[in-house]
Amino acid sequence: MGYENDLILRAARGETVERTPVWIMRQAGRILPEYRAIRQSLSGFKELVETPELAAEVTIQPVDILGVDAAIIFSDILVVPEAMGLEYQMIENKGPYFEKTIQTLADLEKINVPDVDDTLHYVMEAIKVTKKELNNRVPLIGFAGAPWTIFSYMIEGQGSKTFSKAKKMLYTNKQLSHQLLEKIAQTTIKYLKAQIKAGADIVQIFDSWAGILSYEQYLEFGMKYVSMICNAINEVPVTVFAKGAYFARKEMGELNCNTIGLDWNMDIQKSRELIGKDKTLQGNLDPCMLYSDFDTIKLETSKMLSSFGPNRHIANLGHGVYPDMHPDKVRCFVDTVKEYKS
Ligand code: CP3
Repeated sequence: MGYENDLILRAARGETVERTPVWIMRQAGRILPEYRAIRQSLSGFKELVETPELAAEVTIQPVDILGVDAAIIFSDILVVPEAMGLEYQMIENKGPYFEKTIQTLADLEKINVPDVDDTLHYVMEAIKVTKKELNNRVPLIGFAGAPWTIFSYMIEGQGSKTFSKAKKMLYTNKQLSHQLLEKIAQTTIKYLKAQIKAGADIVQIFDSWAGILSYEQYLEFGMKYVSMICNAINEVPVTVFAKGAYFARKEMGELNCNTIGLDWNMDIQKSRELIGKDKTLQGNLDPCMLYSDFDTIKLETSKMLSSFGPNRHIANLGHGVYPDMHPDKVRCFVDTVKEYKS
């Protein structure tokens, strides 16, 4: 395919690499003043997400400014519930809000598996513009939320510490829960395939709220649908990041995907044992580590790299970078990975 830098693709496939590739979850936006400048000139987050030229511009910013080895398309996991019929708002300093939610069978029946090329046309367009402007410098990551995480927002209607309304649905209406999860999974498969067709070189499934379920519930309502998606996508490497699901690492090793994302609570050696040798691991420095001084960041990043070893690793944080982190600290993390010699 002729990339100037295809380290992340080779690491995902388990090939030998000259050095460990690095990118950062939530690298697009949030921390960069260059992002905020564009963002503030607009009516809101959604305008940025829905304007392909601007989405492409902020997607490429971290490649230029932070020197990461991959771009991730600027969008949000919540475009999927919107395409299915639940419009979202992104409220300043608060987060997402859905006017309509799913509570009953009647609500569920109004939800459809949409034509994604139509409803999410702006994402595919943003991918095409980004690919053209990246000009094969680094690969582009596409993404979607995992069905359980999307389900949580569709039931709850907003963020939550406990997602107890979503969990209540699993306990009180199993049938509705499975029907909704199935519709989300089918939509997500179509959506990821459309992103790949538009140019995404690798795709990541974010299961941000995996960790609030019990082991049994996660297998039944979480992993089952992640597995369905993994089985349907074989065009490009797939990464599964199930935050907090340390209890399901053995099962993660059996997924039909290339890479498993680890959060900072998942011990590296133990994860390797449980997940097995056939997967690439991604992660997993505590994002809050980037609040410490430069020397500590260098030391802790080097320790992480030595623990993972030179192959089958994609360096990243254990979750997204926080908005108040200094870009120089983030760059220190990236540079340490790029300069590391084992
Ligand atoms: O990784 C990237 O840089 C690409 C863009 C990206 C965004 N959201 C942009 C965004 C990605 C991959 C996401 C994923 C996402 N969105 C997840 C899964 C990853 C995770 O962190 O667990 C989740 C749970 C969401 C839902 C969401 N979007 C919330 C809860 C919020 C509000 C709080 C927050 O995170 O800032 C958003 C808004 C959002 N999505 C912003 C950005 C840059 C901030 C909006 C702004 O600019 O005002």
